Amino acid sequence: MQPAFRTIRRFYFILSLAMIVIAPTSQAVQSPFDTLIEKIMMEYPALQGNIQSDIINGQTVFFADTKEAGSLLVSEFIVKTLQDNYQKGQSSVLGLATGSTPLIVYKNLVTAFQNGALSTQNLTTFNLDEYLGLAANHPASYAFFMYQNLFQYLDISDERIHIPSAPPKKTDESIAEYQQLLGQTQRDIQLLGLGKNGHIAFNEPGSPATSRTRLVKLDESTRIANSRYFESPEQVPEHAITMGIADILESKINIIMAWGEGKAEAVKRAITGPISSDCPASFLQQHNKTIWFIDQKAGKML
Ligand code: PGA
Repeated sequence: MQPAFRTIRRFYFILSLAMIVIAPTSQAVQSPFDTLIEKIMMEYPALQGNIQSDIINGQTVFFADTKEAGSLLVSEFIVKTLQDNYQKGQSSVLGLATGSTPLIVYKNLVTAFQNGALSTQNLTTFNLDEYLGLAANHPASYAFFMYQNLFQYLDISDERIHIPSAPPKKTDESIAEYQQLLGQTQRDIQLLGLGKNGHIAFNEPGSPATSRTRLVKLDESTRIANSRYFESPEQVPEHAITMGIADILESKINIIMAWGEGKAEAVKRAITGPISSDCPASFLQQHNKTIWFIDQKAGKML
């Protein structure tokens, strides 16, 4: 973002809290989304000087000064959405992501649960992806990651947790079962991280907009990026199961986060570039409720 624009936005922010919420949509009537964001901003004065927003290519983009501030806004948005459903006696469905990006959000959700601000009794979850061939107790598996960082702290039974898995010789069957369950429900919110190559989940460049849950071959760049979770790069599986782009676009709301300079190029391509399989995250431009939460470093090329 250009420094001049940043200064102007800061000025508007100080002028009026309402500006930051209403200006992006320029609508006379606020949507439930705007109202909720406004409520969170009012509740957390610490966020007020740290978050700016914009509409770029039809997508709401929140620029946070730090990933902590951005993650707090995301986790509060989730907590309030889930609690609202819970109080109405409705169930909630959350799509979950792995990787370093959502870690603070998960920590905040655990805290909210422990403080009694979040009930997970009516919650069902669907994870985006999993490596092929890693058992749930493998330390680098996404099932293990989810248990370690979130599920072990919540009141949620195994039947309500869905993570794609593929036992040997049962890959097709497992994928079909996962797809069927996913299709039977609608996610309230899908959380997403962004790969440096523009991937979302394990939808690598080349993934079509119509793609569904399937077995994919991982990009070499993804295997290298993720080798930090393995003892050696060769141990990173070559294949994974991932929700498809069409599955992701069926969530009511998509929240995509990106922190740090390393994501700046991918953020720019995804938000402002052409909608193309070359950058799978660009397909989010076709979703009417995609919300970006990025820090200033990740947004520096916008
Ligand atoms: P990260 O990975 O959260 O570890 O940066 C995101 C991704 O590759 O999708």
